[in-house]
Amino acid sequence: MSSRSSRIRIEFIWIFVLSICAVLLGFASVRRYRHAAVLVLHLDQLEQKALNLVSDTDQWMHNTDHSVSPNAKVEDLATRSRTQFAAFLGLGNLSGPIIELESEKWKPLILRHCTEDMPPYYAPCLTKFIPNLEYGEELVYPDFEAALPGFFNLQDAQTWLQTNYGPDTQGQTSSNKRVIVDQRQGRLVFTGVRGQNLAFRNVRFSEDSLAHSWVPDSSHCLGHMTSTAMFHLQQQQPGEKEGGKEEGKKNGKEGEMEQWAGEPSPQEEEDLELVEEAAVYVTPDSERYQHWLDHTTKPLMQSAHLISGRTRILPGSTLGSKQPIVRTMWDWLPHINKSQLTGSDNNLHVRRLLVSCRVPYVHPYLFFRLQEMVLGAEAPRVPLSQRKVVIWYSRSAHDTSRQNHGREILNEAEVLTAIRHLLQERGLGERLEVHPPAETVTDQLDYIKYLNRNVAALLGPHGGGLCNFKWLATNTLVLELMPRSWISTPLYEDAIGHGLNYWVDLLDSQTVQHNMMANVSNIIAMLKAELGKKPVRGPIIRYRYDWPAALEDSIRRDKSRSAYFSSLNGKCCNNAPGDLGAEGLYVLGNPR
Ligand SMILES: *[C@@H]1O[C@H](CO)[C@@H](O)[C@H](O)[C@H]1NC(C)=O
Ligand SMILES: *[C@@H]1O[C@H](CO)[C@@H](O)[C@H](O)[C@H]1NC(C)=O
Ligand SMILES: *[C@@H]1O[C@H](CO)[C@@H](O)[C@H](O)[C@H]1NC(C)=O
Repeated sequence: MSSRSSRIRIEFIWIFVLSICAVLLGFASVRRYRHAAVLVLHLDQLEQKALNLVSDTDQWMHNTDHSVSPNAKVEDLATRSRTQFAAFLGLGNLSGPIIELESEKWKPLILRHCTEDMPPYYAPCLTKFIPNLEYGEELVYPDFEAALPGFFNLQDAQTWLQTNYGPDTQGQTSSNKRVIVDQRQGRLVFTGVRGQNLAFRNVRFSEDSLAHSWVPDSSHCLGHMTSTAMFHLQQQQPGEKEGGKEEGKKNGKEGEMEQWAGEPSPQEEEDLELVEEAAVYVTPDSERYQHWLDHTTKPLMQSAHLISGRTRILPGSTLGSKQPIVRTMWDWLPHINKSQLTGSDNNLHVRRLLVSCRVPYVHPYLFFRLQEMVLGAEAPRVPLSQRKVVIWYSRSAHDTSRQNHGREILNEAEVLTAIRHLLQERGLGERLEVHPPAETVTDQLDYIKYLNRNVAALLGPHGGGLCNFKWLATNTLVLELMPRSWISTPLYEDAIGHGLNYWVDLLDSQTVQHNMMANVSNIIAMLKAELGKKPVRGPIIRYRYDWPAALEDSIRRDKSRSAYFSSLNGKCCNNAPGDLGAEGLYVLGNPR
């Protein structure tokens, strides 16, 4: 084909695309913003298709082997990713109802193709270095900042900050920190948050390919040193162990010789079960409710748009968990059919293995996505005005499901009386409930739906019970009573990820098991100030960007996102005494 005719062709396609743009954008302008977003997305696809058509045709012409279309396999996954991701966000279907999703407001930018201007370690370009990496996508999550906890005195605030995020402590995450403590604004900034979804070809997989518990070098799934080397093709040096090389080979589908990733072992090879496509979710200690929630759900959400009805799900050992709730939770995921979910006693030969261990611990996209999938699209934003239940999560009641003891509140009765009295006094129809419920919960999904739709506040000592706040709607008030000698971040980080109004009171341990005396007047003062209201210290999560004026240009004008925005105008840079300042740390009773 002459370059002249191909240029004419490209121009013709562009004229076609642009005229469709003009017509559709005309339409969009008289409809809601969301419709415009949908249309733009579709146009984007159309444009992409036009470009693909041109470039594919071009490659096709210059490729002498016409038996398979160029990059067919990569295109297959990239297209699946793009289509299903759009559908998840409620953007995929023009004729369907438009549902506004909280996860859509925090969606990552997904880079699916390696381009000449991309750093070589971004997922799409890793395919150049790892021979059996078929596809990689890089998820660029929008930066965000979260309100620091509400505190009860300044000294405890400093202790908490120093212990969790101080210069010589571990914070998010270990030595590969991705947080900035912005005390002036009273925020914790999560920046440069990234994920990688990777698809390896011809992997030998066994259950112990990935660590089932935390390892000190942080190379477990989600650890910041997480590696995929166990899935890489073993490149054999010439002259090295000829016999071993033969055993490591097998005829591939297209007749070409394909080599195993992983150590070849002739006996086992005969027993391998062949699986066309699988996704692995082996995360540390995932047999426990809290660690299934705070670890396994994250790769699950990050890769959900890549899972098809034929992808086998490899859940590690969680199906055999002693806590039946863990088995049950797998059934709550609507994108996975029960029949896809099987443990593997055998070693497997997986033709395509999806691995998503490089996923952030905390990002609103992943947190909202989980709630929307399990509880429905409205779950993150059940209005506070409809929620009337204050839960005290007790560690004092006899609870056989709890495996560890301690952290009881010694003056619990006094606390409960004071809260009941306050709620009665307020006369707003609010009521106190003590959980875990006295009767065994028969349907756990009903239980968490109840929490999601009714709870305005959840209070209690540090422990697994507070993990239930994973299911609470945005702006729910949360109080963690934390032993001063045992300060930790995970519950805070899991609370702010979906915008909960998190407070912490540091208390002296009265016993070696960290039993504590609650500070009743603090609890009552906090409830008076915050219960049933939006947090006094502003949006719990909000967008952060290097160029705040760009947020002013966009987010401020977008009603659906404006809840996640506070203007920095007038309080950005003026540090002189008496100038209008930023928020600072929030200490109850100390006006700022
Ligand atoms: C789009 O939405 C309509 C209405 O809800 C539904 O009938 C149709 O099946 C959907 N199409 C796709 C491709 O999901
Ligand atoms: C409760 O906390 C407040 C604020 O830190 C403190 O002033 C007060 O002495 C505490 N009360 C008790 C009984 O410890
Ligand atoms: C789940 O998989 C089974 C077996 O492949 C199939 O018969 C069934 O229709 C699937 N269910 C859904 C909801 O996709």
